[in-house]
Order: sequence, then C-alpha cells, then structure tokens
Amino acid sequence: MQRAKLSIIGAGNVGATCAHWAAAKELGDIVLLDIPDKVGVAKGKALDLACCAPMERFDANIIGTSDYTDIAGSDVVIVTAGLPRKPGMSRDDLINTNVKIVASVSEQIKTHAPNAVVILVSNPLDAMVYTAWKVTGFPTNQIVGQAGCLDVARYSAFLAEKLGCSVEDIVALLMGGHGDDMVPLPRYTSVHGIPITELLDDATIKECSDRAKVGGGEVVKLMGTSAYYAPASGSVQMAEAIIKDKKRILPCAAYCDSEYGVGGYFVGVPCVLGSNGVEKIIEVKLDNDERTLLDESVSHVKDLVGIVRKAFPELG
Ligand code: APR
Repeated sequence: MQRAKLSIIGAGNVGATCAHWAAAKELGDIVLLDIPDKVGVAKGKALDLACCAPMERFDANIIGTSDYTDIAGSDVVIVTAGLPRKPGMSRDDLINTNVKIVASVSEQIKTHAPNAVVILVSNPLDAMVYTAWKVTGFPTNQIVGQAGCLDVARYSAFLAEKLGCSVEDIVALLMGGHGDDMVPLPRYTSVHGIPITELLDDATIKECSDRAKVGGGEVVKLMGTSAYYAPASGSVQMAEAIIKDKKRILPCAAYCDSEYGVGGYFVGVPCVLGSNGVEKIIEVKLDNDERTLLDESVSHVKDLVGIVRKAFPELG
C-alpha cells in the first residue's frame, strides 16, 4: 500500500512540531517547506527528525524544501506559514501580514496539490481559512481550520486538573471563533458520560473555559511567542482523521452556510472528518444563551473577514 503524504508549509515552531507528532504517529511521508531563505532550517529539521526513526520506530521519508513541486500528490497540507504573536498582541494584529503570506501559499497549493485537504493553522485563523478558500477556489469540504481541537484540549486539560481525573475521560465540545471568541458548551461536556454539570459548579466550569479562552495569550506571555506543542497536536489530530479516514467528530473551522444560520463563513463547529475532509457538519441544539454567544462569535468572524475583503478586494 502506498504511504500517505503530508506536507507542512512553514518549518517554524508549529510546522516542525506538526512534523514531529505526524512522524511519531507514522502518518506517512512528510514534506516540510519554508521560504528559500529558511530552506536550511527546513532541511535541517527534516534530517534531524528522520534520524529519530530508528529510535521512535517509524518509517517515513521526511524532506525539507522550499520547492513547491515537492508537495505534489499530498493527501493533506497543513499551513503554518506566518508570523506568531508577541506579548501584547492579539491574533487579529497579525491579519495584514498573514493574509499576504497565506494567499501566496494558497496559490502554490492550488497549483501543486489540488486534491489535498488543506488544514489552516496560521492566525487569525478564521480569516486565514477564508483567504485560503478564496485563493484556492477549492470545494468547501477541502478547506478546514484548526482551532477547536486546541481550544477543547485546553479546556479539557483544565477541567481534568480541577476534577483530579484523567483527561482521557473528558469529552468536551465548544464552538465559534478561535480562543477568546470560543463558545463553551458545558451541556455537551462529560466525564466518561457523566455531565460535567453534575461534577463541578458553574463558577469552576466558567473558570476553566475562561482560562482556555485566553490560554494562547497565557503561553505568549510566558514564552514571548505563540504556543506550538498543542496547536501542532490539534492539527495532527485532524490530519490523522483525514489520512486514516477515521470519520472522527472534531470541532473545526468549517464552512457553514445554512448550518447554524451562519450564512457563508468558516466557523468552529463539530464536523465529521474523513478522507474527503469535512464530510459533515453536525448541528446540535443550542439554548438561547448559547445561541447568543455563538451569534456574537460569528459576528466577530464576519468582522475579520470584512477586514480581509477591505484590504484585499480581490478576495471579496
Ligand atoms: N511560505 C512558507 N513559509 C513561510 C512563508 C511563506 N510564504 N512566510 C513565512 N513562512 C515561515 C517562516 O519562515 C517561519 O519559518 O513560517 C514559519 C513560521 O514559524 P514561526 O515564526 O516559528 O511561527 P509559529 O510559532 O510556527 O507560528 C506560525 O501558526 O499558530 C499560528 O499564530 C501562529 O500565525 C502563527 C503560525
């Protein structure tokens, strides 16, 4: 059987860590691509990682490159190219620089890997997914953003800490935009089937979801740059679901039109992820408070896309 192929654009912190998790999971052959000035970094990290194979026991060809023809035939492309945050910056502050980067990367993906499912990670995520969709012209199932897996993971980690239980037993759901904009859904969060609302009081649940909302900022303040272990882990969780056609239900930034009444934007919703990318969006019932929060979150996504459209009318 032919190995799957995963290309990662941007060989910085998030990109290289994606390669690391993907190799450890033996997802397939890996291409790590960066700009020509950084091709040495891409090649060096690829070589370093390839030398782990005998110890970590995976078989994969791992290459570093700046040549987009190397991504041909990719099943999945993960886009991590772009600036990370510095302390004091919001994700939205990155928009003008990162739209240009993601637009140029998307042109290349369109030419060289037209059948790949594209996972966006660059921030501000909700605007970057839109940009990639517009530039590639790919069907909406082929374009998806990583945000929900990370936000859910942070939320789950904090809940498990409060409960003193294994994170493995937490199944959480949240929706909406990335991070500060996420909509926690305690009604759809359980610990091995036991509703979280039975085990923790409202204030403690809120404390965990509030910390998850600003979890990215907490890391930026500590390290001086954006998080990368957990964002990469979330991206590879999605890549695995697609490459192995697992039909996993994961919260992802997916194109919603009639779904949740969004009207044509990429928003965090529970999706079925398989070899065709976003194979289905699951619509859960929301109560009035949840609906209001989701509407607010969607309106922020629309504002971000509005900024992209204004600055780059060709992406309108
Ligand atoms: N093509 C390919 N790679 C590019 C391009 C481009 N046009 N422009 C920039 N890059 C590369 C940079 O050279 C750098 O190696 O993207 C890489 C980004 O790596 P880091 O600076 O380490 O940033 P990182 O922490 O990986 O974050 C990347 O992911 O989570 C988001 O907010 C984060 O937007 C940021 C992105």
